[in-house]
Amino acid sequence: MYIKTATFLLCVFLGSVSSCCVNGRYYPRYHLSPPHGWMNDPNGFCYFKGEYHMFYQYNPMSSLEAGIAHWGHAKSKDLCHWKHLDLAIYPDQWYDQTGVFSGSALVENDVMYLYYTGNVNLTDEMPFEGQFQALGISTDGVHVEKYKDNPIMYTPNHQPHIRDPKVWEHDGSYYMVLGNAYDDYTKGQIVMYESSDKINWQEVTILYKSNGSFGYMWECPDLFEIDGKFVLLFSPQGVKSVGDMYQNLYQAGYIVGEFDYDTHSFTILTEFRELDHGHDFYATQTMKDPSGRRIVVAWASTWEYAYPERADGWAGMLTLPRTLTLTKDLRLIQTPIREIDQVFRRRLYSGKASAGKTVALPDKAGKVELKWDTPRNIKVVIESQNECQNVVISYDHEDGTITLDRGGDDAIRRTHWDPRGHLKWTIFIDASSIELSCGDGEVWFTSRFFPEGVVSVRLGEDTCVDKFTVHSIRRTT
Ligand code: FRU
Repeated sequence: MYIKTATFLLCVFLGSVSSCCVNGRYYPRYHLSPPHGWMNDPNGFCYFKGEYHMFYQYNPMSSLEAGIAHWGHAKSKDLCHWKHLDLAIYPDQWYDQTGVFSGSALVENDVMYLYYTGNVNLTDEMPFEGQFQALGISTDGVHVEKYKDNPIMYTPNHQPHIRDPKVWEHDGSYYMVLGNAYDDYTKGQIVMYESSDKINWQEVTILYKSNGSFGYMWECPDLFEIDGKFVLLFSPQGVKSVGDMYQNLYQAGYIVGEFDYDTHSFTILTEFRELDHGHDFYATQTMKDPSGRRIVVAWASTWEYAYPERADGWAGMLTLPRTLTLTKDLRLIQTPIREIDQVFRRRLYSGKASAGKTVALPDKAGKVELKWDTPRNIKVVIESQNECQNVVISYDHEDGTITLDRGGDDAIRRTHWDPRGHLKWTIFIDASSIELSCGDGEVWFTSRFFPEGVVSVRLGEDTCVDKFTVHSIRRTT
């Protein structure tokens, strides 16, 4: 209790400090970031009483390290403008004392059920290490009460790495998938559970597992249906890079299959595909909203890099929410949520353009679109006064590769783009992030960069586009 009150008071203090003097040089203008402190995975993404809620892994005490995870909380009517709410879940019980780890939300009859992992590390006082699944309940969408008989699950056969519950309902039964490491922390797998009452869970199957060549631990699993097929989305740790693939420390990607709720059998139809090819995309979370959209968000940072924002009292941001659809050949397409267009209030340029055309983005934020009618090479440079932070994105249409170069160490990310429909790129720039969507959303790159001063977009040499459109987030004055 004492810890909770002290944390609360510290957060109120830090909150008021950060809102009046947070250094805005890298702070996102239209993406969700913590008001101060550290953010990693999105959690408990849901729609509740007319509003979207986003929880996230949060260390309110420091932006320098993940520390002991809490659940931060924000809500939004349109997925673009977020209101920060009080810290939602504290690590104040024996079963979550070293972290209220990631999890998901189930909304039923105007009640929010928040499933999370309670993490317990070995310490001098605690001669035990393990992960428990626990439940928090909210009826007002603000206050979360921990369930009286928590933890609701302890699974001795899968310890000590079994976490990140994703829960959903189907035909009156409840299902949960958990990420797990087995065989002495050498292989990842996803375990599935079923319940008739949301509290008591039985293991029903190992949905999918690594044979040893695909990572030592799988985090943040999710299983959902699109057009009669099932997408298993997860974040494997420890996958070795192969050519341009799996270049990040950890990946986030999916396989598509058929799932039978009666037999719990999952038949795999595709190989694993990365959902994003940039430097910063991990720990995805999806939800289905009342209009039937399956929306995905991810942590747009990684465990890998110590970005300079940490010195400004905050760390971490989420990606733009993107709507997922499945193509006939079982590839996920990500479309930026349609609501995002309202953010870009002022058109700075629209028309044909060729090499050298440069448009400055007020407030370091905006949306850039390029369209071309016939196949050709394309190059765009996002530049600032700090040249070593320039981002160069280029497309070689003959070998079909897109390369994003953000300079510095480990600068390059590359993948193949085989345009299926429109020849176009949409680039979202937000103070310290770039999200590039290629074509109709078949290929994405999310990467962080840290520009100083004015940010401009310039068309590179030999580039000529039929339509170049640049919007800023500022109103016309
Ligand atoms: C993924 C992850 C989760 C865990 C959380 C802890 O980034 O490692 O598996 O629940 O972060 O913050």
